[in-house]
Amino acid sequence: MSMQEKLEQLKKLRKQIEAGGGPERIQKQHEAGKKTARERINALFDAGTFVEMDVFAGEENVADLKNPGEGVVTGHGMIDGRRVYIFAQDFTVTGGSLGRIHAAKICKTLDAAMKVGAPVIGLNDSGGARIQEGVDALNGYGEIFYRNTIASGVIPQISVIMGPCAGGAVYSPALTDYIFMVAEKSQMFITGPQVIKATTGEDVSMEALGGAATHNQVSGVAHFMADSEEDCISMIRQLLSYLPSNNLSEPPLSEVKSPPGDAEELIKVIPDDPNKSYDVRNIIRYVVDTGELFEVHANYALNAVVGFARLEGQAVGIIANQPNYLAGCLDINASDKISRFVRFCDCFNIPLLTFMDVPGYLPGTGQEYGGIIRHGAKILYAYSEATVPKVTIILRKAYGGAYVAMCSSSLRADAVYAWPTAEIAVMGPEGAVNIICRKEINESENPPETRARLTEEYRDKFANPYIASARGYVLDVIDPRETRAKVISAFKELATKREGRPRKKHGNMPC
Ligand code: HXC
Repeated sequence: MSMQEKLEQLKKLRKQIEAGGGPERIQKQHEAGKKTARERINALFDAGTFVEMDVFAGEENVADLKNPGEGVVTGHGMIDGRRVYIFAQDFTVTGGSLGRIHAAKICKTLDAAMKVGAPVIGLNDSGGARIQEGVDALNGYGEIFYRNTIASGVIPQISVIMGPCAGGAVYSPALTDYIFMVAEKSQMFITGPQVIKATTGEDVSMEALGGAATHNQVSGVAHFMADSEEDCISMIRQLLSYLPSNNLSEPPLSEVKSPPGDAEELIKVIPDDPNKSYDVRNIIRYVVDTGELFEVHANYALNAVVGFARLEGQAVGIIANQPNYLAGCLDINASDKISRFVRFCDCFNIPLLTFMDVPGYLPGTGQEYGGIIRHGAKILYAYSEATVPKVTIILRKAYGGAYVAMCSSSLRADAVYAWPTAEIAVMGPEGAVNIICRKEINESENPPETRARLTEEYRDKFANPYIASARGYVLDVIDPRETRAKVISAFKELATKREGRPRKKHGNMPC
């Protein structure tokens, strides 16, 4: 073959590979409201920056290419000027199913991302293990799971579910840091509706079983729900803007911006009646830059709010109890939500800002039987283990074990501030007087009146921030309007914080 002919052949092969599963399957993908792997990559990366890896990888001689790209496109490019690695499964080629070479391409991408210390994004659209490839496919999954685990805490790993993902295709995402799903376009399940029908007789649709709403609201498997693929891509870019490229670098600094509105609003959010609820996000937005909180798990465990924000351009992880839902009590799901987020921030050098208003752990047999003890312990573990700067603001209730858990000074918060509305005690006044004053109440002439009087006395005496401050558990009681300034100043002081932990192989977190 002459040079000219060889160049023609190269061009033809490249075109063939770029065409994926061919026009018919691409059309089917578009008709389902989904983009192809290459379209998704182009939408995600800064224009013209994508570099494809292993373009000709395949089981056969390139000349009789059967599965172009082996069902996955891999490579790297820039997102907002920072390098990010990617693998995007191509549903138009064998339904994005994973065979030996497909897995090898993903593994190589993960290895390269680890080598240079860059985040990796997986765009998942796959029918799972490629049935024809048998044990080679299973081994391929194992190789990916191993790498996901080793990369955990070293580089951010983001999974995006963009189609039906079944079997092995859902475990790799589960090992990564964040899972995005597209509403009504993506599903995740271990076994699909047909297998469920055959084994249990249960009738369930793919969407009800493993759609974006199910995993964002019910199971908590997914962290973000996007309305469309375009929306999803802009959310991924937003998430990355808060994250460092790896565990040895700092999160990127953005332009310094102040919060919107008037800090005066902060003294109006908490109702005078301590039993009334409010939306804690109305406090957060008067503290952080531009009032913006990028919520993680926004639709799951609504009694806790976690997410990313900025203070003078510096990324921070926000953790808050949400009095609007279950009175802000900690339950199993909130414990999982908070502890996982705290651990992520600690892995990637993102300081923690906690807003506490928590009446306790949620009582009840449902919680006890479900293991609130081991789930609740995760919060204690995560905050204790975290060595990033930790600042806590006690807004109102700070009762019992939940007070300890929400980053109290005993779990090594570096600075704890309380608002004058703070109530820090072993339990709320009503519960406390029923236990410690039971005899006095029962023997009084008018028990309800006595209970009310004693409750008020208890509140005045114990449910305030001053006992904790006197003992040094609270650094200062502050005017709510000073919160932003105090927090910024504390994080500046802590910017050079260095705190060690004993050398060990790894801890054994309750789970
Ligand atoms: C090989 C597959 C495949 C698979 C889909 N295809 N899944 N090929 N292995 N696992 C192929 C189809 O044959 C078809 O090829 C094309 O991909 C598109 O699939 P359709 O079924 O036409 O698409 P759709 O109707 O949209 O349904 C998508 C789907 C369904 C829900 C994902 O294909 C499906 O249920 N697949 C099997 C899912 C599953 O049970 N996977 C688990 C495997 S076991 P043509 O040529 O017609 O276009 C596993 C265990 C690993 O993963 C454990 C590791 C720990």
